[in-house]
Amino acid sequence: MLSSLALFGAGLAAANPLVLPGVGSGTAPDPTTITITSVSASGNGCPQGSVATELSPDRQVVTFGFDAFQTYIGPGTGPADRTKNCQLHLNLKYPGGFQFAVVESTYHGYAQLEKGVTGTFYSTYYFSQSPADTTTTTTSITGGGLWEFGDVYTKQDLVPTASVIWSPCGATGILNVNNRIALTSTNTSASGTISDDDATVALTQQIHVAWQACN
Ligand SMILES: *[C@@H]1O[C@H](CO)[C@@H](O)[C@H](O)[C@H]1NC(C)=O
Repeated sequence: MLSSLALFGAGLAAANPLVLPGVGSGTAPDPTTITITSVSASGNGCPQGSVATELSPDRQVVTFGFDAFQTYIGPGTGPADRTKNCQLHLNLKYPGGFQFAVVESTYHGYAQLEKGVTGTFYSTYYFSQSPADTTTTTTSITGGGLWEFGDVYTKQDLVPTASVIWSPCGATGILNVNNRIALTSTNTSASGTISDDDATVALTQQIHVAWQACN
């Protein structure tokens, strides 16, 4: 049984590109690693039927594809078009012992923003076991210039986490990532759109220290 569970979302590390762990090996997940057992998504940016998910064979990387995670501002649009959210829920299986891992997320989207329009992408990371302990990252794109013509963008987050699982056979936890895109404008005639087309969440840099074998 789970006797104690502590999960921490620490501050953000520098955005240093990392090599993702190998995927596609076709072998069973390593029992000494944190693995993703199942995923789901909820929010008005990801209504049912609009999300595709793919879990890597080693269960350390999940990719979501979004068909309806888009916002609009400008003539002919309403306030409800300006912000959308999609919360990702990752059910995790932890081995017993001490774990360190970096939650590495990469988002790809598209933005077309006239001068006066700003697009902002917020991601808040927290574990269900300690919902007050959050890490939020923000990326903003200021309209005008080349953004008037539209272009793809990438947002990348590195969130270090550490946990101590007292149960020798491990425990489960839920990592939530609340993503929100929003548009604001200083010019009611100016138009803009921003979307999030995909999200990849990976548990990288895993360090595992076991102190008890599980039978
Ligand atoms: C507001 O946006 C419209 C459409 O892009 C543009 O024609 C107009 O010049 C803008 N007004 C100001 C004050 O920037």
